[in-house]
Order: sequence, then structure tokens, then C-alpha cells
Amino acid sequence: MNQKVIFTTLVGDAIDDLVSQLGAPQIFVIVDVNTAQYVLPVLKEQSKAVQDATVITVKAGDAEKTLENTHTIWKELHNNNATRSSVVINVGGGVVTDLGGFAAATYKRGLRVINVPTTVLGAVDAAIGGKTGINYNGYKNEIGTFTEPIASVITSDFFNTLSQQELLSGYAEMLKHGLLESDEELNKLLAYSVVYPIFDAERLLSLIETSVQVKQRVVEADFNESGYRKVLNLGHTFGHAFETLALKRQSPIPHGFAVAQGCVAALVLSHMKLGFPSETLQKFADYVRKNYNAFAFTCDDYDFLYQAMLKDKKNLTPDTVAFTLLEEVGKPKIEVPATKEEIASALDIYRDLMGI
Ligand code: GLY
Repeated sequence: MNQKVIFTTLVGDAIDDLVSQLGAPQIFVIVDVNTAQYVLPVLKEQSKAVQDATVITVKAGDAEKTLENTHTIWKELHNNNATRSSVVINVGGGVVTDLGGFAAATYKRGLRVINVPTTVLGAVDAAIGGKTGINYNGYKNEIGTFTEPIASVITSDFFNTLSQQELLSGYAEMLKHGLLESDEELNKLLAYSVVYPIFDAERLLSLIETSVQVKQRVVEADFNESGYRKVLNLGHTFGHAFETLALKRQSPIPHGFAVAQGCVAALVLSHMKLGFPSETLQKFADYVRKNYNAFAFTCDDYDFLYQAMLKDKKNLTPDTVAFTLLEEVGKPKIEVPATKEEIASALDIYRDLMGI
């Protein structure tokens, strides 16, 4: 993995240093309407490169990861004579780094990219590891590339613009990384509270640093996701099914909440199939219930949830659901098949643990 990851409180200086090392004659900054309002003015004060850049603004939200917005970015790059030596700086959460990364990766077969994630989710996940993409025909991230940015510059400076929900949502991916790493890392995460008003940004940045290292190690081992990278799918098979059910009820839940709740269900299944320790499961479920609440459903929803899981991209065959599970904390196992009955039993236990 060649991507540099820089943790800093001097984000403007870090950007200017990178740009001068890259010798880029022309800089483009991609923002969404939120980062245009809250982050760009600060970065302009701190960075000469950002001051001089051509700014491209897109709308905010996952629904904006479209071919139309990709086209808007390509058009701006084209109209402003971008060349292969231009550098694109994506400033935003996962939507901006996915969409801006995709437009940059495909324009003239690839412009160089620097990511400046402004959300916790972006910092620990979307801006690391080179996945870029847009949604297509109702499917998330259906079109995209594996293209590493030159660097990601991570700061906690902008996290105070995030809502409680956004903070918790990003923290869920960190909990997932803790489960993949070790009891020690998991315990540190479970001992920390990302809940306002006791939110400690310095401590959070140090936890993010470890979380990014976990993801980097996985990506280094399997950049193109031919196998091992699927460990990062922990909690996502149940999580995506919860999100799909919530959408059907017209009451969407944030991705990170679904991932945290999905991790609880995945640990239940891990306990049933691989002997994952029940004390850790209980401790993890308590943390999720307290911070994220339970995603509520009844046994009448099991069939819908199962059908949603059958559609998961990472299944090996269309009629078997394959999970990433854990034998213990730090010992993931990919592509573990589970039957409809096993999944139903796991959902029963999840409901008991989460008190629904
Ligand atoms: N977000 C999971 C991955 O990067 O593979």
C-alpha cells in the first residue's frame, strides 16, 4: 500500500507540503455543500494550495453518488484544462471521497488524489484503502475502481461540526476494527464514549490512528478484495439487511448504527457457529444497546431480512448467505455459510440480548 496517512492538527501545512512535494501545477478541491460552508473557509485560511485551487461543489448525501455528478466533476476538470499532473483534493465524508475519487480515477486514466476526510467514518474507512465508486440503478457502489489516493490527511479539527449521530456512525466502524484487532483495542474503544458533551477529540484522534492502522493492514494484505479484505464486512451482512428493512418502513437508520447492531448479530452467530466467547458478546451488546439503541423487529420480519441477506454482494452463490464471523476477538473467518434456521436463531438471541 503506497497511500500515506498523515495525522495532524496542522492540516493546511500538511496539504501544502504534499502539494509542493508532488509539484502539482494545478489543484482542484472537491467539496459538498456542507464542507463548502464549514470546512473550506478554514482550509483556505490555512493552505495556499487550497486558496489557489479551482473548487468543485456537489450536493451532499449518499443519493448524490451518481453518474450525473461524476459528469459534473469531469466537465469542470475538462473546462479548466486538468492534466495528469493536476491534483484533486477531496474534502468531505465518504460521499465526497467515493465520488471525487471515482471521477479523478477515471479522468484521463487517473489524476492524483489527496483525501481530507471531515467525518469519523471517512477518516477510518472511506478515505483509506482505495475504494472509489458511485451508486447505479438502485445498487450502492455498483460502479467504481480500486485506486489509492496519494495521501489522506486526517485531523479531528472538523469533528466538532458533526452531529451526535454522525460521530456514533463513524465510531461503529472503529468498533468493528477493534473486534478484528484484539481484546486490548476493543476494550479501549468500549471504555471511551463518543457521546456529547464528554467528547474528547484528542483521545478520539488517537483511537482513530489505531483504527486506521487496522484497516491499512487488511488492505495491504488484499488490496483488490480477492479474499481476506472481506473481513471488513464483519457486521455488514446483518447491518445491510437492517438498513433495507428500515428503508422499507420508510424510517431509514444511519449506516453506522446498522453496522453496530449488525456486529451484535454477527457475534451471536459467531458464538453459535465458532464458539465466540459469550462474555465478550454480552459486553459488546451492552455497549451497542446503550449507545445505539436496538434495531427493533419481530419474527414476522425474519423472512424479509433473510431475502435481503441473500442479495449481499459478498455471497459466493445466490442461494447461500456467507458471513464474516469471529472465532474470538482478532480471529476473523470469512465466507462462513449459515442456513436460514441458524440466521433465525441468531436473530432470536439478538432480540433477547438487545431487549426487544
Ligand atoms: N469499506 C470496506 C472496505 O474498504 O473494504
